[in-house]
Amino acid sequence: MKIIEIPAKLPLYLFIAGEELVDNTFGEGLFFRQTWDSSIHQWVALEEGWYNYDIDTNLNGTYDELVGYCSAQINQEESLGILKTSVVNLSRQKNGIGDVMVKHRLKWLQEQGVQTIKSYAWFVDGAVPAQKMLINNGFEPKDDIKGYWNDHHNKNFPCKVCGSNCKCIARIFEYKG
Ligand SMILES: CC(C)(COP(=O)(O)OP(=O)(O)OC[C@H]1O[C@@H](n2cnc3c(N)ncnc32)[C@H](O)[C@@H]1OP(=O)(O)O)[C@@H](O)C(=O)NCCC(=O)NCCS
Repeated sequence: MKIIEIPAKLPLYLFIAGEELVDNTFGEGLFFRQTWDSSIHQWVALEEGWYNYDIDTNLNGTYDELVGYCSAQINQEESLGILKTSVVNLSRQKNGIGDVMVKHRLKWLQEQGVQTIKSYAWFVDGAVPAQKMLINNGFEPKDDIKGYWNDHHNKNFPCKVCGSNCKCIARIFEYKG
């Protein structure tokens, strides 16, 4: 598996796969909103190369499969690094991909010289899917904030769970090393 930063020269089919994975998990438009925000850095996790020959078009090639997406944000004034969005393809979950994506971003944020690293993890269906992954990597849970992403969502960018008025809870984690 390899982790590639966007915008690398990502083929269109992988760009579309990334958008579908992110938007289907969190809500329409999130992928491109993160792409437009210059403080946010995005990566995709790719399973390398399967060969395909299309008998109809007579085209062949080697294709990667997008298995995960993650992003991180830097708040320069506060020297704060944030592990933002993490999502792994449902069929590939619990295989250590999320863990690799956390380690990759932690290393990257440390190289950028941030003082503090936090993560705002989604509390959904009575659980925090990212909790174990964060704790395994040296994060500690702090507070829970209801409606944390409320101002990010509206009619154009609805939350996958609540629609335009997001009441989802974020569990705040801080990296202790
Ligand atoms: C959270 C998520 C990214 C984890 O990715 P993953 O590749 O499955 O994670 P890993 O395989 O590296 O597992 C890391 C640890 O978390 C645990 N874990 C993974 N998914 C979990 C889940 N849904 N609920 C509870 N624990 C989970 C694993 O058991 C593992 O712990 P262990 O090694 O101590 O047993 C993935 O479940 C996902 O995409 N969820 C939906 C989107 C989401 O909620 N993202 C987080 C938003 S902040």
